[in-house]
Amino acid sequence: MSTPAAPLAPKPADSVFVHACRRDQPEDRVPVWFMRQAGRSLPEYKRVREGIPMLESCMRPELVAEITLQPVRRYGVDAAIFYSDIMVPLKAVGVDLDIVPGRGPVMGSPVRDEADLAALRPLQPDDVGYVTEAVQLLVAELGATPLIGFAGAPFTLASYLVEGGPSKDYARTKAMMVGRPDLWDRLCTALADIAGAFLEVQVGAGASAVQLFDSWAGSLSAADYARYAQPYSARVLQRVADRGVPRIHFGVGTGELLGSMGAAGADVVGVDWRIPLAEASRRIGPAYAVQGNLDPALLGAPWPVLAERVRDVVRSGAEAPGHVFNLGHGVPPDTDPAVLARVVELVQDEGPALRAS
Ligand code: CP3
Repeated sequence: MSTPAAPLAPKPADSVFVHACRRDQPEDRVPVWFMRQAGRSLPEYKRVREGIPMLESCMRPELVAEITLQPVRRYGVDAAIFYSDIMVPLKAVGVDLDIVPGRGPVMGSPVRDEADLAALRPLQPDDVGYVTEAVQLLVAELGATPLIGFAGAPFTLASYLVEGGPSKDYARTKAMMVGRPDLWDRLCTALADIAGAFLEVQVGAGASAVQLFDSWAGSLSAADYARYAQPYSARVLQRVADRGVPRIHFGVGTGELLGSMGAAGADVVGVDWRIPLAEASRRIGPAYAVQGNLDPALLGAPWPVLAERVRDVVRSGAEAPGHVFNLGHGVPPDTDPAVLARVVELVQDEGPALRAS
């Protein structure tokens, strides 16, 4: 007589999140997580970050693991996003930069000519040993819950390097892009290789999916995006193409770019709040799942109004071949965590019926 085999522990690859990314979503489930779910909206985050500068916090594996897990514990979201920043791999290769609270990434000196490119040496896994360590800790803790690794796309990274900090119009960046296409190509190729290596490290250590953040790509026309941004994002996504993990590609204000963003090598296209998911999915085509797209500003609206908007997002997402519920951009710092908890509960409880309606 043989003893029955022990039931296999569920794995992240079997999760609703990964299935939705792969367009074989169980009809009755809607996975949900939030961009910037870790961070300043959580009192437990503010407590553990006290007195520790942002970039330093990203280099302490135990702290990274704790901060990444905080929203998973609190909300029961269907995926964790690795706590780090798009600027971390640049800092790791020695670029002089800081992340200033309330402002964002600021460069010691901006990248404006050939000589400045020397700062962008290739990223070796040893440069970010703390990332490998933190991902390994997290994968062990998370069990069946998938961990999403991420990187910044070359255009968005270049915008910080060239402007020297956050910008509204990206004027210097765009001037270099169209005026010095040779320099732009060298800059974005170097950034693509750094971002690609950063994703490889996270996937190699056990991340179950990746997201490429091209947050500011929506400032480009479709033609300029296709010519000056998409090829470099494709180069990043190609680096993890054969790793068997879903690839999510996100930007803000990208209604006219959605098709190109999918074609860059994504499985899932992240959509902001300006376009209903059903329409976004028509633009991207049937070979892609979508992620999004509740307007983060509505988190401050009275609950009955907000709840109806959450339901609209789930219904519209049901028309796509796969839908991961999220916001259209990150959680605002002043968000009441209790509201996010209610959103998760609503999506998980009512999702099945809403998708069927
Ligand atoms: O929870 C998560 O989403 C994971 C962690 C994460 C952070 N940054 C932590 C962070 C992720 C995925 C990012 C990505 C990131 N960083 C992007 C792309 C996503 C987006 O929002 O469009 C961009 C553009 C950056 C650059 C950056 N870093 C900005 C614009 C800021 C905000 C500046 C501010 O203070 O308002 C940061 C800092 C940052 N990154 C914080 C966190 C938690 C706040 C730092 C703090 O606590 O002081």
